[in-house]
Amino acid sequence: MSDAMIQVRDLTMRFGGLTALDNLQLEIRRGEILGLLGPNGSGKTTFFNVLTGLYKASAGTITYDGNNVIGKTPQQIYRSGVARTFQRSRLSLPLTVFDNIVIGDYQNMRHGLVFNLFRRKAFRAEYERYVESVRELLGIFSPPLVARLFEPVETFTMIDRRRIEVCRALMSRPRLLLLDEPSAGMTHDETHELMDDILQVRGKLQDLSVVLIEHEMNVIERITDRCIVLNYGKKIAEGTYAEITADPDVQTAYLGEEAA
Ligand SMILES: Nc1ncnc2c1ncn2[C@@H]1O[C@H](COP(=O)(O)OP(=O)(O)OP(=O)(O)O)[C@@H](O)[C@H]1O
Ligand SMILES: [Mg+2]
Repeated sequence: MSDAMIQVRDLTMRFGGLTALDNLQLEIRRGEILGLLGPNGSGKTTFFNVLTGLYKASAGTITYDGNNVIGKTPQQIYRSGVARTFQRSRLSLPLTVFDNIVIGDYQNMRHGLVFNLFRRKAFRAEYERYVESVRELLGIFSPPLVARLFEPVETFTMIDRRRIEVCRALMSRPRLLLLDEPSAGMTHDETHELMDDILQVRGKLQDLSVVLIEHEMNVIERITDRCIVLNYGKKIAEGTYAEITADPDVQTAYLGEEAA
């Protein structure tokens, strides 16, 4: 029996007349790096949006630890251990690394604004715990960033910004990390480095599962344990990188796209 953390059954997402996810069946296993592939518009980001509660599926179930995720709020899903990065960067450039990473965990903060105004001492203690926690996380993911914790993000290179976004997602100590095209806008060498970091983190954070949406085949080949290929919202192939690239349906989906 496979060690499935997430089971997706008959998942369908319609936007008006468009079916972005079409009766999808898949599972995400504990501790794996799963590549999610497919031509533009095949439903990859939509799958993340449904899984994280941004969109409510038209039909089907997503079972996580025995509970159906559909109908839960993004906050509930986040608190249960699912974190993501977005296809387009969502950092606040004038804010510091620390601020940007802590925003990622805002939903888990114990103390709201009113509390902070009236109970400064407790707030201070919470703040210091956060500084420690961010330092620790950056220390695992990207040690050179620790010394620059209070510098604005706009002073960082593209790859460091991407690292900061991944750290923000890791701040809640998720069990499942969803990465939507983390290599976008980066050079080949930068992508290689970022993937090294992700592999390293996976080695250090026990049992972390990662789903990676990625167009670069060499990245997929290098870091995934398993791949799923979507086309028009349907799963057309599943298996190791070698298996899916040898699949005629996958080749047609990609060649069809290039010919278009
Ligand atoms: N909020 C929305 N409203 C209407 N249509 C949407 C919405 N979100 C996605 N779609 C449509 O659903 C389909 C799947 O889009 P999605 O963004 O999931 O593709 P993708 O596989 O992530 O593509 P890409 O590789 O270009 O990022 C597309 O046809 C898209 O236009
Ligand atoms: Mg997308």
